[in-house]
Order: sequence, then C-alpha cells, then structure tokens
Amino acid sequence: MALSAMDVYLHLLVEKATEASDYIKSVEYSFNSYFALRGFQPHQIFLSTIAFTLFVVWLYRFFFMHELSLWERFKLVSFRTIRRLPYVGPQIQREVDKALEKMAGSLFKLPPGMKYVNGLPQSGMSEDQVMRAIKGYHQLGHVDWKKGNVSGTVYSGQPELTQLCTKVYGEFAWSNPLHPDVFPGVRKMEAEVVAMTLKMFNGGPNACGTMTSGGTESILMACLAYRNMAKERGVTLPEIVAPFSVHAAFDKAAHYFGMRIIHVRMDPKTWKVNVKAMRRSITSSTCMLVGSAPQFPHGIIDPIADIAELGKRYGIPVHVDSCLGGFLLPFMKKAGFDLAPYDFSLDGVTSISCDTHKYGFAPKGSSVILYSDKKYRHSQYFVQPNWPGGVYATSTMAGSRAGAIVAACWATMMNIGEDGYVESTRKIVKAARYIAKELRKIDGIFVFGDPEVSVVAFGSEVFDVYRVSNALTARGWNLNSLQFPSSIHLCCTLCHTMPGVTDRFLNDVKNAVADALANPMAKATGQGAIYGMAQSVPDRKIIADIAWGYLDCVFDTKRGDQDGPVNGMHH
Ligand SMILES: *Cc1c(COP(=O)(O)O)cnc(C)c1O
Ligand SMILES: *[C@@H]1O[C@H](CO)[C@@H](O)[C@H](O)[C@H]1NC(C)=O
Repeated sequence: MALSAMDVYLHLLVEKATEASDYIKSVEYSFNSYFALRGFQPHQIFLSTIAFTLFVVWLYRFFFMHELSLWERFKLVSFRTIRRLPYVGPQIQREVDKALEKMAGSLFKLPPGMKYVNGLPQSGMSEDQVMRAIKGYHQLGHVDWKKGNVSGTVYSGQPELTQLCTKVYGEFAWSNPLHPDVFPGVRKMEAEVVAMTLKMFNGGPNACGTMTSGGTESILMACLAYRNMAKERGVTLPEIVAPFSVHAAFDKAAHYFGMRIIHVRMDPKTWKVNVKAMRRSITSSTCMLVGSAPQFPHGIIDPIADIAELGKRYGIPVHVDSCLGGFLLPFMKKAGFDLAPYDFSLDGVTSISCDTHKYGFAPKGSSVILYSDKKYRHSQYFVQPNWPGGVYATSTMAGSRAGAIVAACWATMMNIGEDGYVESTRKIVKAARYIAKELRKIDGIFVFGDPEVSVVAFGSEVFDVYRVSNALTARGWNLNSLQFPSSIHLCCTLCHTMPGVTDRFLNDVKNAVADALANPMAKATGQGAIYGMAQSVPDRKIIADIAWGYLDCVFDTKRGDQDGPVNGMHH
C-alpha cells in the first residue's frame, strides 16, 4: 500500500518535471525566435544585456545600498516637495524663519555696554588688560554648577584638582604628542593612561587602545575600525546595529563614514535593548553590535553579556559604550554595589569607549578607546606613506594635539588613584540611588527602568512632564530634557554629593509635581513647550533647520550686543 502511494507520487513528480522542462523549452524558443525574427544582431543582444544588467545594479543600489532606508528617503523627498509647494511652502518657511528669529533674539545676549571683538586689536593687550577682559567673560555665566544645580556637565570641580591641572598644564603647555621624539614624557603619559584604563576593564595580554579628544572621537574611531574591516571583506554598506537609546555619536559615525545605523527597540519596562530584536537586525552587512554601560538618557545598562554572546555566535565585533560610566563601573564592586559583567572579561566584547573627562575627573578633551586585540586598533590608524612632508601616520582623527591635556589627564588619574575613584563612585551611586528611590514615592511621575549608576530619568503619564522641567528651571536647576518619550533626567556628579543637594532637589521636584497635578491638563509653556512641539513635528528636517540656526547663533558676533538681560542656553 505504502509502496504504491510512493509510486504514484514519483510518477506525479516526473510528470511535473517534464511539464516544467517543456515549459522552459517553449519560453526559450519564443525568446530566441522573438530576437531572431526582429533581426537583432548578436552584438546588440550583448550590449543590451550589459545595459540591462547595469540598470538592475543601479536599481538594487538605489533601493538597498543607501545610508538611509527607502522609507526615510521617501519621507525626506515628500517633505521637501511639500516645502516647495506654492502657498504651503512659503508659509512653512515663514514659520521656521519666525522660530529662528525668536531664538536668535533670545540666545546669547550680552550685558549692556559689552561688545563683540570682530578683529585683532592693533597692538596687543597687556597681561593685566587680558586678565581683566577674561574676568568679564567669566562673569557671563550665571549658572552655579558648584552648588549642584546642573545635571552632569562638571564632574568634579574640586578646587585642589583645578590647581593641580593648571600647574601641570603650564609644564606641558607647548607639547604635542604628534612629536613623541621631542616630547617623550607626553608619549609615556599617554601610553600609561591607556594602560591604566585597560587594567580597569580587564584587558587581556593583546588588549590595547589609544587616547582621543573625547567620547565622540572614541566612538568614531571604533566605528571607523569596524567599517574598514567590513569593507575589507567586501561589504559595500556596513551596518551598525545599536540600541535606540545609544549615544548620537554612533549616528554621527554612520554619517561621517558612509555607514548605515540600525536602531534596535528597547524593552519598554526595563529600557534595556531588546536582544532578540537585535539578533533579528543582524545581516551579512552588520559590522558591529553596540551596548551602552550605561546609556545617556536614562542611565540604564544594556544586557552586555547577551550582546557579547550574540557577537561571538555571529562573529561580529561588539562595542561597549562606557563613555559615561567608564570611571564608575570598574569601581562599583569595591564600592559595595552589585554589577553584572560588562567589560573584556566577557569573551565577545572587542572594544570599549571610556571617558577620562567625565567621571575620570580630567579636564575636557580626553577619552580612551580600548580594543581586545591589536588588529582592531590597526584598522583605525591612518597612514599616508607618499606625502612630500614625510611618511604621515596618526592613530586618531587629529594631527597635532594638546600634550598638556594628556598630562593633565595623567596627573588627575595619578592624583585620585583607585581609592579615590572607589570613594567618588560610592558617593555618586549612593546619591543617584537615593534620588531614584525617593522619586518613586512621588505620585504622578515614574522613574525609567532601574538606574544602577548615576543618571536618573523620570516622566509622567498624568501631565506634561516638561512643566516640571520648567518649574525646576525657574527654581534655579539646569536639567536635561529628553524626548521620545518626554522625560527629564539628572546626572549626578560629585557636585550632587555635597550635603543637602539631593534633598533640595527632591523637595523642588515634589513641589513642582504637586503644582502640575493641581491642573494636570495644562500645557507647558516656553522652553518646555518647544521640546514638546519639536517631538510632534513629522518633518524632522524642520527641526534640523532650527538646530542649524542654533549652531549659527553660537558663532554669531553681529547681533545680541544690544541692551538686555543675559540669557544663556546651557546643555
Ligand atoms: C557623554 C557620552 C558620550 C560622548 O561623549 P563626549 O565626550 O560628549 O563626546 C558617549 N556616550 C555616552 C553614553 C555618553 O554619556
Ligand atoms: C540653585 O538652586 C536652588 C534651588 O534648589 C536655588 O535656590 C538657587 O538660587 C540656585 N542657584 C542659582 C545660582 O541659580
């Protein structure tokens, strides 16, 4: 019985195969006769085949080989078309111009009597004159970060450290790491900063790294290295697969280096990246996976071990962005806090970015990029062997660099030492956890996920949280506004560990929330309204245009020296 069923099946199969081959033959025949009948010459067929192939390649590249997805490009073109329409277009432009004008008028106003310098003074100023002028510039700032009123921004600010760095800067003011033969001391210090940081992150015997000018450059370098490696194995458009919450420096890297970035969605409860979704985003073009330890917006640590495992399984490099937490996480265990592994002790982790100029307390302008193996570092190097100026070789973006910044960073790390960092970590993490715990007790707001380190973000499902942000600004606080979804965060630094600061903050939040709850449907005004509105504009190019206007204002020396109050904008 079974045998005969098999027979029937086989018979059917042969029949279908014959039919199919007959069909192919008939198509072949009509194809050939079509070209033969119309008298096509073989060279015509040959050339049109090439033309057709090129067209298909073009189509393929158009659809799939662009840094922006088809949908993103479609939106761009649609909105661009709308802005070119008669009547509608000029009206939108007028609104944008009005917003720009309003912003330009309110930003960076100078106090009465102060003018911009728009050319060199004919004869140089004396030291006294310069110092007097400098005092005036210093007094333009009215935000008191020393009292802990500002989120992040200044991580230490201890006067003794300022003095030490200033002295060390003086010693190395003219040095340039581009010339290690002239400044061997700077070379030694730079190598030692990298070595000390590697030790903090459990780098193996082949681990290595370089110093950079900041977190963004560290991230750019890792992305460049992985892009170059992917290109070498034939990938046309390398893809970065990163959490939605990842730092914008990765988007910048994609933009600068001709890569595509895939943002992976977050778990809506924990605000950690969804690793399953990350696995599904992997393609043959993926050149790196990213996890943050922790991410900037909500201070949450991604599941680094799972991402590392994924990278190992698919043979893809894994970058851990520890720019923010780089000088907290390595000391958390010693400071008495539990922590899942996040560094080179995990097999799949191939690079880590770590900012010495955040919780390392070094002056701005220094960071470290670390690799588990020298082959990755080689891919970030640039060498031009044929330059008439000599064989030109640099490890990072810059050519000449400030050796004094390297020296100040080295001095800071040596001055604080492991015990010092354990102590600052203990104080900062304690302050942040206290704030998170107390914020959770306030009705009407919620804390994002379980912030383990130094940043605490909160939002509201009851009222517009930017109203609380406005109220806190009015009370002298300078916090970070976040979007998608609307929220605000406080990034705790040493400034927030001074007695009374956390309670002063919590008290002000409590009062602001109570005011907001009294009238939950009210809309935010002013700065808060701008953030709320900016999220709801579907044409993101409009927001980009306004941001361009903001950047233009930063370099403006033509307007704003009319009389009026100083009104700076701080981030
Ligand atoms: C600050 C930060 C960066 C970038 O650092 P910069 O020094 O501002 O260039 C990158 N990632 C995270 C998580 C950060 O907090
Ligand atoms: C800092 O914040 C407090 C409110 O907690 C406020 O009273 C004080 O004026 C603020 N300082 C400055 C310089 O804005």
